[in-house]
Amino acid sequence: MKKVQLSHTGIEVSCLCLGTLRFGTRKTYIDLYYAHHDDPHTPLEETLKAFETLVQDGKIRFYGASNYLPWRLADADAICQRYRWAGYCCVEQRFSYLRPRSGGDFGLQCLIDEHLMSYCDARGKTMLAYTPLLRGAYVRSDRSIPSPYLGQDTDERLKALREVAQELEKTPNQVVLAWMLHRQPPLIPVFSAGTAEHMRENLGSLDVDLSPEHMEKLDQAGHCPNDEPV
Ligand SMILES: NC(=O)c1ccc[n+]([C@@H]2O[C@H](COP(=O)([O-])OP(=O)(O)OC[C@H]3O[C@@H](n4cnc5c(N)ncnc54)[C@H](OP(=O)(O)O)[C@@H]3O)[C@@H](O)[C@H]2O)c1
Repeated sequence: MKKVQLSHTGIEVSCLCLGTLRFGTRKTYIDLYYAHHDDPHTPLEETLKAFETLVQDGKIRFYGASNYLPWRLADADAICQRYRWAGYCCVEQRFSYLRPRSGGDFGLQCLIDEHLMSYCDARGKTMLAYTPLLRGAYVRSDRSIPSPYLGQDTDERLKALREVAQELEKTPNQVVLAWMLHRQPPLIPVFSAGTAEHMRENLGSLDVDLSPEHMEKLDQAGHCPNDEPV
């Protein structure tokens, strides 16, 4: 294994981890490089310029944001527009079928909410959802639903999910992933699976055909007109 030298930049360390540090001699690049979370202590312009330089150097093709608040994305876009930089092409935040309770604490993790969805839709940014399966909690007795997701609508949402899954003879996990993929524009779930069985099950979500009625039922479950949209 190659030794990481102190002189290597963050991008070079990432490439070393992927086994692809060959800039210059052979064309190699990272397709999508993320800012894992917003860094409020570094001027956005500096962060974006660093990403843009990596694109111009051919080291990455696209850059994306993760755990950003919508107004920070808007600021980033304004800077990129000024300098004609590509800007963040996608946004990866926490999201699942269950809706977080108002004021639920997720620490440094930022969520996909209605405001972010509408911003990304309007700006043509792809949205990706991490921890979509709540680490298996929809189906596993050894994983409980995280407390920030326990709210007034939780039981209704779980009921709708199980009913749709039963009707289609699919698993709740598959329905959660398919529900995200059926959104227009689609929301791409980023799941992990430690077993081949789980991976096969999750990839089976690509074959789940949700009708408009299923989507309506899943969308509306637990909906209260006076709720703050989440
Ligand atoms: N940008 C960020 O800040 C951020 C934060 C968190 C995560 N992420 C990304 O998102 C990815 C997914 O996040 P995650 O791992 O937290 O969430 P997840 O995909 O919701 O949960 C993965 C967990 O669920 C279990 N699981 C998966 N499929 C299952 C199935 N069909 N049945 C039962 N259990 C199942 C897995 O167990 P087994 O191992 O037993 O299969 C694993 O423990 C990560 O790999 C990471 O790349 C990004």
